[in-house]
Amino acid sequence: MTLKASALITTAAALAGVAAAYPSSLQHAKIVGRQEELLEEYDYIIVGGGTAGLTVGDRLSESGEYTVLAIEYGKLEREGWRPGQTTYNITSLPNPELNDRSFSVGIGCIVGGSSAINGQVFQRGTAGDYDAWGELSGSEDTTWTWENILGYFKKGIHFTPPPEDLAEAFNITYDLDAWGQDPETKIYATYARGLSPGVIPLYDAMRNFPGVDVPTDGAGGQNGLYWFTTSMDPDDSSRSYSRTGHWDGLDRENYELLPTSKVRKVVIEDGRAVGVEVHPRGNRDDITVVKARKEVILAAGAIHTPQVLQLSGIGGEKALEEAGIDVLVDLPGVGANFQDHHYIPSVSFRWTTAPETPELDLTTNLTGRGIALGAFLGMKAVSPDTYEALSDALEAQDAAEYLPAGTHATVVEGYARQKSLYARAMRDNSLSFLECMLGGSPSCSPQNVHPVSRGTVSLNATDPEGEVIVDYRAGSNPLDIDIMVELVKFFRRYITGGDLEAYGAQEVSPGADVGTDEELAAWARGTIIPSVYHPVGTAAKMPREWGGVVDEELLVYGVEGLSVVDASIMPTIVGGTTSMTVYAIAEKAADLIKARA
Ligand SMILES: Cc1cc2nc3c(=O)[nH]c(=O)nc-3n(C[C@H](O)[C@H](O)[C@H](O)COP(=O)(O)OP(=O)(O)OC[C@H]3O[C@@H](n4cnc5c(N)ncnc54)[C@H](O)[C@@H]3O)c2cc1C
Ligand SMILES: *[C@@H]1O[C@H](CO)[C@@H](O)[C@H](O)[C@H]1NC(C)=O
Ligand SMILES: *[C@@H]1O[C@H](CO)[C@@H](O)[C@H](O)[C@H]1NC(C)=O
Ligand SMILES: *[C@@H]1O[C@H](CO)[C@@H](O)[C@H](O)[C@H]1NC(C)=O
Ligand SMILES: *[C@@H]1O[C@H](CO)[C@@H](O)[C@H](O)[C@H]1NC(C)=O
Repeated sequence: MTLKASALITTAAALAGVAAAYPSSLQHAKIVGRQEELLEEYDYIIVGGGTAGLTVGDRLSESGEYTVLAIEYGKLEREGWRPGQTTYNITSLPNPELNDRSFSVGIGCIVGGSSAINGQVFQRGTAGDYDAWGELSGSEDTTWTWENILGYFKKGIHFTPPPEDLAEAFNITYDLDAWGQDPETKIYATYARGLSPGVIPLYDAMRNFPGVDVPTDGAGGQNGLYWFTTSMDPDDSSRSYSRTGHWDGLDRENYELLPTSKVRKVVIEDGRAVGVEVHPRGNRDDITVVKARKEVILAAGAIHTPQVLQLSGIGGEKALEEAGIDVLVDLPGVGANFQDHHYIPSVSFRWTTAPETPELDLTTNLTGRGIALGAFLGMKAVSPDTYEALSDALEAQDAAEYLPAGTHATVVEGYARQKSLYARAMRDNSLSFLECMLGGSPSCSPQNVHPVSRGTVSLNATDPEGEVIVDYRAGSNPLDIDIMVELVKFFRRYITGGDLEAYGAQEVSPGADVGTDEELAAWARGTIIPSVYHPVGTAAKMPREWGGVVDEELLVYGVEGLSVVDASIMPTIVGGTTSMTVYAIAEKAADLIKARA
């Protein structure tokens, strides 16, 4: 009783204090306009003011004890997807297994990073996704498990329940225990309002489909059919992202942001990161060195963190030598192990007789962000007839055969372990393989959320400081094509069978003439997009002997005072959208960093 009462008083006092200290939402950490205005030295320098970067910057500066500088290549500008302006201009290498097609690598280039431009689907992977990270640590003492990271999801995310009438009409159930509801956190998870009543018959039919589980809420770490949230402010439906949650509203003398500036490399002296070289965007010659007393934190995202490492002399010996860079740490995992989700834009049908759309009597206005229902299914549910054969085939493969020729043995070892883990997960349902979002129409963009192919992000040896070379290598492990075929067949069975059989769904895309597995595979090679803009894995947290780049503390192997805190540390991608996981990683990292301060 006493405890609770005093906690309440403290919260109220803190809130009053906040209101007095931050009269305007336009307050924020100090912006440094020019390199000349920088201090000579900070306790922490964060490379990248994106999703993870601003989160960790907030946490490290909040006590007032440390000086923190975040450096961001993008501009401080209005959020939103504006290709070439708020995204990088990167096109991937032609992908031979996908008919030589190239793809846009549309990651965020703006203060707030990819969270400022993303699709705002906001969810977690399964418990198995995070336990896999523990298993791939090779250590019994790992703290990278579902149980452990759950606390950081709770700390990092402010859940707001759906309006009651919406929840009732759409059968939205949620697990408050799994969410936590940190009132101090301004990164919101809110249910979409723009739900189409047409989704209800599709929901009911998926619920009844054999093999499909229906957890109360995906936030509890289970997969199946569930309603997911959106990163949206519940009051005005605006985007909730790392800038609104972790930068706007801060007024801290000890925290500075330098936008429109590029970190070229980390300065390493006697095996220790002591600062960075930075230059204004577009002027490589105007270099300033800024020193870091305690640590340099790389948060440049999975596409650019490997580049900064390599330009600093940390990476595979061969790649560095080709680019004319002195090797300080031979770390072949840098830029390897690249993963993203794969999808097919449209598998679509037309009803012969559309199911009746329920009449809803709601006070909640059904306008706003839509699509909030997803089926996240393991391979056994997707394909009860073939999952065992797929698992056997994956386990039996020689790992080296599916990585680029000459891949270092340590990287091959890590991939072999990931393959075994996925082969097991195909049987035990601990990982989802299909993600299928359902809206009001009989269509789906099936996503393979655990591809078994691995790509690379490398330096351009001709111009190492220029844009990196992204090679998705989707389908380089041919089992990914087989998996995609099964995902399409699952949707076909669901939409034409079970409770939906009576509505006579006619296939529009790919069409009834694409019938056999061979025909579907050929069609898939021409339609798969190897990215849902969820790049991860290029500076993986794994043992060095398994091709890892950072250790359990997120410290880079072979050098002191240098850590990575962003999507690149994920050893394996999670079976859901990635941003919420990045926030959790950043929250956990902030604790790790403070503990060693
Ligand atoms: C178009 C799009 C749609 C997406 N949709 C969803 C979705 O619906 N749901 C979801 O959960 N996730 C989604 N994601 C993915 C999610 O947003 C990312 O996984 C996450 O934001 C990555 O966070 P990060 O901190 O690793 O990298 P980022 O947030 O990308 O931050 C990296 C930052 O570093 C900066 N930087 C890079 N190099 C340098 C350098 N040398 N010097 C200085 N700064 C540098 C970059 O400009 C960038 O701002 C989407 C992403 C995109 C791009
Ligand atoms: C992308 O290209 C456009 C047009 O050339 C350019 O103005 C913009 O600065 C580029 N964006 C980035 C992030 O480099
Ligand atoms: C709604 O969810 C509850 C609990 O998960 C379930 O028992 C019920 O069948 C669902 N209703 C519909 C219409 O699907
Ligand atoms: C519903 O919301 C939309 C968008 O916010 C708004 O334009 C519209 O007027 C609202 N409708 C009602 C009935 O409140
Ligand atoms: C590498 O850089 C050179 C020089 O800028 C450029 O001509 C070439 O196209 C780049 N290579 C790739 C694969 O992007």
